[in-house]
Amino acid sequence: MEENKLSRIVSLCKRRGFIFGASEIYGGLSSFWDYGPTGVRIKNKIKELWWKRYVERREDIVGLDSSIIMHEDVFRASGHLEGFVDWLLDCPNCQKRFRLDKIEKISENIYKCPECSVSIDAQRNKPRKFNLMFKTNLSAVEDEPFYGYLRPETAQGIFVNFLNVLNTTHKKLPFGIAQIGKAFRNEVTTGSFIFRMKEFEQMEIEYFVHPKDAERFYHYWVEERLSFYLEVIGLKKENVRLRQHAPAELAHYAKACTDIEYNFPFGWSELEGIANRGDFDLREHARVSKKDLSYFDELTRERVIPYVIEPSSGVDRTFFALISDAYGEEKVNENIRVVLKLKPYLAPYQVAVFPLLKNRPQLLELAKKIFYDIKDKLVACYDDSAAIGKLYRRQDEIGTPFCITVDLESLNDQKVTVRDRDTMLQERVSIDKIKEFIQEQVGLI
Ligand code: GAP
Repeated sequence: MEENKLSRIVSLCKRRGFIFGASEIYGGLSSFWDYGPTGVRIKNKIKELWWKRYVERREDIVGLDSSIIMHEDVFRASGHLEGFVDWLLDCPNCQKRFRLDKIEKISENIYKCPECSVSIDAQRNKPRKFNLMFKTNLSAVEDEPFYGYLRPETAQGIFVNFLNVLNTTHKKLPFGIAQIGKAFRNEVTTGSFIFRMKEFEQMEIEYFVHPKDAERFYHYWVEERLSFYLEVIGLKKENVRLRQHAPAELAHYAKACTDIEYNFPFGWSELEGIANRGDFDLREHARVSKKDLSYFDELTRERVIPYVIEPSSGVDRTFFALISDAYGEEKVNENIRVVLKLKPYLAPYQVAVFPLLKNRPQLLELAKKIFYDIKDKLVACYDDSAAIGKLYRRQDEIGTPFCITVDLESLNDQKVTVRDRDTMLQERVSIDKIKEFIQEQVGLI
């Protein structure tokens, strides 16, 4: 299964309404994706779990929702204007363009074109810098342009609001600012489904600490974020690992960085990065904006530029890892059953309700009554558009942990059949106990 797993997951996502290609009816836009009715439920749940754990349930982290388009000077200070670039090399033969760090180097200044295999002399065909940020004209006057940039990370919105948050919340070190939001990068290397998109979503915390505490909190956040993926998202332990960056691969702002990697269908790749950004960002924003971004500790009478520990996660990559991890194929009666074994609270629907026969009005009526009754406490769906076998298959592929079937017997004994997604075992439960029964099994958090 492994070699085709990626294409099977992509096909499932389309078939069951998780993810569609963006602008599809016009031929699509490469590296842009839309989340469908089932996909958006999971995506929102991932964000909700993260926000609850770090903003709602802690008193040392506050939330923020800053603008996507930001002032050019933000990125002058952050280093993105100068440093957020890929070096691109044009092939003089096939005219295709490649990232210099991604193609085979034959000898000094000579590279092999991955498309047509000719040797490219980088002395003659000079590599060119390509900034990954999207630039946009904010001016209404055509001949007097004023440019802003779509943020390539939500982090900068946090740094430029450091003073605002500090002055309004009166937080003491250590404290964090958390943000979930869109980020944009004009990625050169794309593909691999939603792994590398030009428009994606991040969940970032900038955790401000006294410099002497930075090392301790860096390790704390690596462990904390690992436990989020294992315990809350429920990824299998054998598919998740930590990888520390070598000094040469550190981003321009980072003193240390650990990636949490996931074994995606195409191999191990970054799911999240946890970086010690030192005082780079606050110091640079203070220098360019000429505002004092230091912190005064009233107890020790000390003024410091805080260090920043940054756990930076991608919503889309978490979604991708979650679907890959939960995806299974099982042989049932000579047929292959595709099933998504998601944790019940992460499934798009926690329960589905069907009438066994759609031509019996009494069954439809009772099934709808049960559906409306449980809907106020559980995320439920109702379906009477196919035969029971097909309805079960659909829900297995969506990951619905429980299906309730109303049959002719239900009209007499006031009981329904509850089918478990993972074991496929069925049991009869009284209609008046059904809501509590499912709630107990789902274990809402
Ligand atoms: N503020 C730090 C930062 O943005 P990053 O490693 O470039 O660091 C953090 O990005 C996370 O954002 C990644 O681990 C990944 O989950 C997600 N991410 C980055 N680029 C992405 C892209 N092009 N498509 C989807 N997710 C992306």
